[in-house]
Amino acid sequence: MRTSLHCHQRLTFLIIFTTFLTFTNSGCQNSPPANNTNANAIAAASPTASQQPLPPWPSSFPQQMPAPVVSGNIPRQIFVPSTTSSPQDARPFFDYFSWESFIALNWPASGSRGAPDQPSNPNVFFTAPNGTPVVWGTYKDSFDLFGQKDQRPSAWDAPNSPLSPCPGGTTGQKTLIFTTKGETPLMQTAQAFSFPLVDQQGNYAYFDIRYDEAQYNFIRGQDSDPTSWLYLLKNLAQKEKAQFGVQMPMTTTSALGSIMVKAAWRISTSHDDPKRFYAINAQVYDATKQVCTPATVLLVGLHIGHKIDPFSEWVWSTFEQVDNVPPDADATPKPSPPPNGYSFNNGTDSPKTTGGYDYKPPLPAAGQTPPKPVQVSRVNPIPNTPAGQSTRDVNAYYQQILKGTVWQYYQLVVTQWPATPGIGEGKPFMLMQNGGVYPQNAGAAFPANGAVNTTMETYFQTQNDAAGAGGNSCMSCHYRAGQSDFSWGLNRRAH
Ligand code: HEC
Repeated sequence: MRTSLHCHQRLTFLIIFTTFLTFTNSGCQNSPPANNTNANAIAAASPTASQQPLPPWPSSFPQQMPAPVVSGNIPRQIFVPSTTSSPQDARPFFDYFSWESFIALNWPASGSRGAPDQPSNPNVFFTAPNGTPVVWGTYKDSFDLFGQKDQRPSAWDAPNSPLSPCPGGTTGQKTLIFTTKGETPLMQTAQAFSFPLVDQQGNYAYFDIRYDEAQYNFIRGQDSDPTSWLYLLKNLAQKEKAQFGVQMPMTTTSALGSIMVKAAWRISTSHDDPKRFYAINAQVYDATKQVCTPATVLLVGLHIGHKIDPFSEWVWSTFEQVDNVPPDADATPKPSPPPNGYSFNNGTDSPKTTGGYDYKPPLPAAGQTPPKPVQVSRVNPIPNTPAGQSTRDVNAYYQQILKGTVWQYYQLVVTQWPATPGIGEGKPFMLMQNGGVYPQNAGAAFPANGAVNTTMETYFQTQNDAAGAGGNSCMSCHYRAGQSDFSWGLNRRAH
């Protein structure tokens, strides 16, 4: 939903509430971020041999489950047997898709943007040292698209963008840009709805948003047709008037379509074991001080949105590092607490978390150190249905085959998809502003509610807390940006 924010106010949000992070160091003033005593702590790899051939699915899984693979090829279709009688029964097939996508997106990157290095050679994946650049990390940053002011965003292949939060980077240097959750205000009133997240070590969590080639090029538009430049609000607003709004390219078996990714990171400290996280060296840009500081950052959350045929309302997957918060109360077997503590929970019942958090810290302000840690817990359990083939069972399987890599310490929290997908004649899809109602006119999203990431929707875990913001699931909230093809980034940041 286009909100009441005016153009210049949107820009103000971008400037005030954004913290950036980039690999490009030159031109930045350096000062260490709070508690970062571990900037060089990226551990050497402990590569293990490739585990091919992979063990079969446990017998509790549907017989038609596709064979698991460790591959750098992003899946281009989702197989669901025609005999599947309910969305819930389809869950293992979507969870399979989520995990296969997670592996492919975290595959070591080749030299060319967005491309995997030897996608058919699992050894490349299993022996990559921690910190190796991965495919999604080479996707273009939302800043490359929306932060370029009057300049045209650079071509997909271009190594640099005209404007960078840490200017002076040399050609070919990778840029990572991080934003706080506070930068994502869901403006339905004059207030920002969103708040930053502070981890147990007292540091802010950081976020970045990236688009694959198809989506980036679609939003960037054609050189020859300036009306197709959708990062410009005037063009976007025109296209959004279509009956079904903007329609980005969809993945088919022959070509990848739109993939968008949002990641959550935290700063590594001497308290952390970087071997349990995907850890990279990066620059944190503090917009309040306008300084860039080097830090080792640890991947704690990853959202993936993929528009894949026939799922025109996208398929939504979200992953978390396993040490984020305590496990679900009914988790079996009960995992032992992480050796170095949880990232976002002190491991006790105090302070209490109502709605999954104890308080909402203020937005970062100049000259202020981050406020006290937020105590976070998971409100919506990781699905335990269908029995024996639930998201938890799929996690157990993949964590086993990924032993020896950092990826064994990640878990799929939920996959959400349109159970009745498709846009056009005879399909239920309808934009909200044309009278569409969630979930039925959003492709009958499944599960309809309760699908969030504790690091990225910390304060929107309950339906009550999320009511004003669009709901406590990927699809309910992103459906409000339906006219921008579910991309809140495009909807919020076009200028
Ligand atoms: C309460 C609302 C809300 C919920 C729930 C939500 N998101 Fe988002 N999401 C946003 C907003 C707002 C942004 C834009 C952030 C920005 O531009 O800084 C966003 C950004 C994203 C992006 C970046 C690309 C883009 O253009 O939007 C992805 C990918 C994404 N979300 C995936 C997910 C997934 C997966 C889930 C569910 C597990 C989810 N989101 C749940 C509001 C939400």
